[in-house]
Order: sequence, then structure tokens, then C-alpha cells
Amino acid sequence: KITPVIMAGGKGTRLWPLSRASAPKQFIQFVGDQTLFQATLSRVSNPDLYEPPVVVTNEDFRFLVAEQARELGITLAATLLEPMARNTAAAVAAAAAFVADRAGEDAILQVLASDHEIVADERYFDAIRIARETALAGKLVTFGINPSEPATGYGYIESGDALPTGAHAVKRFVEKPVLGEAERMLAAGGFYWNSGIFMFVASQVLSEMETFAPDVAAAARESVDKAVADLDFVRLDAGAFARSPDISIDYAIMEKTKKAAVVPASFTWSDVGSWDAVWKLGTRDEAGNVVSGNATLIDTRNSLVMSSTSHLAVQGLDNVAVIASEDAVYIGRLEDSQNVGQLVKLLAAGK
Ligand code: GDD
Ligand code: MG
Repeated sequence: KITPVIMAGGKGTRLWPLSRASAPKQFIQFVGDQTLFQATLSRVSNPDLYEPPVVVTNEDFRFLVAEQARELGITLAATLLEPMARNTAAAVAAAAAFVADRAGEDAILQVLASDHEIVADERYFDAIRIARETALAGKLVTFGINPSEPATGYGYIESGDALPTGAHAVKRFVEKPVLGEAERMLAAGGFYWNSGIFMFVASQVLSEMETFAPDVAAAARESVDKAVADLDFVRLDAGAFARSPDISIDYAIMEKTKKAAVVPASFTWSDVGSWDAVWKLGTRDEAGNVVSGNATLIDTRNSLVMSSTSHLAVQGLDNVAVIASEDAVYIGRLEDSQNVGQLVKLLAAGK
């Protein structure tokens, strides 16, 4: 069976002001009746396929994790708590070391982002089964999404020779290219976006970590060896964990390993990376608006209007996002919503 490892320690600043430092994107409900983290938990809850999940998160989010899992009646194998954020390479290395200790080095891990919207239909589970076979053959498996634009916020995977399992070898993995490079790859064809879901055997990812990111591997290993358990919470040792470089798994190993494979993914996937993406995922009315919470609209089209508090009244606008949280309001054109992160930086700097 597969052990799910859910990475739930990110900040998600582009969905400000609903996504906040205190409760980032993964813990918020944008579409449907579950938060993105809960939807992720639900996708790995089939006991025929999965062991109970391991969640890796920040100390600050431990109660959100526990509460949201409890609401679904899902029991976690453990919640690993990072004393400080060191990005996803360290999170994955610690989780792999932890699972290897508990279940053996042969344990097969599925690493998942906690903040994506995925339709888990037959196509999704077919891809998962192919990925499992491929991982058992020693590969570090990624899932490839058909790219629709030269986005610079994703990893790009160049697909190579077919493997017996139906996956493909990876010729090249390019994390977050500059625009010109993204355009060239899209025009050339044969590239996928990296979905941010991975599958591998614990010993394989740990040995690639030791080869390509030895400082991350050593810090993670020691932080697990010296971890302190408190109910289901496992506090990674701060002194050890702090020594890990701050680097994502994509830069640390996926760009470098020769063992990468890709399973082409035909399932519906969104990383819910902007208000524009939330609008696209939502249920639109006749005027093309997606509305949630208290709002009244006149003469307004193709817009996203969300309020968790005040009553919003919107008149005569087209293609905008109007988002109200308890203490802040964002108003902007939907097509600019990729850049909300810049605004958040200004706000954080007190400007
Ligand atoms: N535990 C933990 N600790 N989780 C983290 C940390 C951390 O320090 N940083 C991020 N995460 C979690 C996030 O909450 C998210 O669920 C997941 O790890 C991925 O992190 P992101 O910060 O969202 O990564 P990204 O979107 O920039 O890039 C990744 O995903 C893309 C697809 O959405 C890469 O894998 C890209 O290659 C990929 O295309
Ligand atoms: Mg992301």
C-alpha cells in the first residue's frame, strides 16, 4: 500500500486576503464543501490503496491540520512539525526518513501538495496505479499535466522513452523557467508541467537526496532521530532542521536525478494559484460571475466576488476580483491576479 505524505506548510500568498499567514490557502474552502487540504485527505482515504497519511506542516498550523482531519473523521498516521520553514526538500526528506523508520525503507510514498484542486476520477486513479508500478521499478515518478500557456510558476518535464509500465523516462526537468524558455519549451512540444505530486520508494528518494542534496538529507535525518513525539504530533528537532538549506524538492533533486519518470496525467488539475484560477473552478451564473458569501451584483460580468464578512455591492464591473475578508479587501482585474504576491510583499513591508 502507498503511504501518502501531504505537504501542508506553504504560505499561498497569491490568494490574499483569504489566504493569510495564520491560515494559508490549503486550509481554506474555495470550491465545494471542503478545504483544499481536506480534499487532498479525501483523495488518499481509500484503505485498499493507502495507509493512513503523514502530514508535514509548520508548528503554527498543527491545530488547523488536526481539526480539519477530525472533521472528516480521518485518522492521521502522524503530523510532522517543522520548527521553521525550510521548503519542500527538507519536508520530504524528513517524511521519508520518518516513514522508513516506521515501515521500512521499501515503503512507497506518494507526496502531495495540499493546495490543489483535482478531480479524482478513474483517470486519476489509473495514473496513480501506473505511478506505483513505476516507483516500484526504482523511479522517482512525477505526473505530467498538458501545458496550456508558457506559465513560469511550474516545473517543466521533457518526456523521453516509454517505460514498460506506461510511464515515460524524463529527459529534462526545468523548474520555474524564465518566460522565454517557457515559450520555447511550449513551442517545441513534448513537455509537461510538473503537477507537484510525486511517487517513489523511501530508499530511492533518500539516496537521491544524499547524492544531490546531502546537507538537506543530513539535517532531515538528524531532525527525525532527535524528534520528540507529543500525541500524534512529531516535533522535528529544531537545531538539526535549521541546518537544512531552504530549497524545494524540484531544484534539490528532480532537476538532477537520472531516475525521474513521468506519468502523463489526463485528469483535471489546478494548482488554484490565483483568483483567476478560483474563478475558473467556480460555478458561474448566467453573467459569468462566481459569487460566494454576502454579495449583491448589478451590471457585473465575468467576475469573482467573495466575502466572508461584509456585504459586498458591486456595480458595472467586468472581469474583476472583489475579495473581502475580516480585515482586508482586495479589488483587482482577474488577469492581474497572478501578481497579488507583489502586493502582499508591500503590505508585509508596511507600505
Ligand atoms: N511542510 C511544508 N514545508 N510544506 C511546504 C513548504 C514547507 O516549507 N513549502 C511549501 N509547502 C507545501 C505547500 O503548502 C504546497 O502544498 C506544496 O508544498 C508545494 O509548494 P508550493 O510553494 O506551492 O510550490 P510551487 O507551486 O511553487 O511549485 C511546485 O508545484 C508546482 C505545481 O503546482 C513545484 O513542484 C513545481 O514544479 C510544480 O509545477
Ligand atoms: Mg503551489
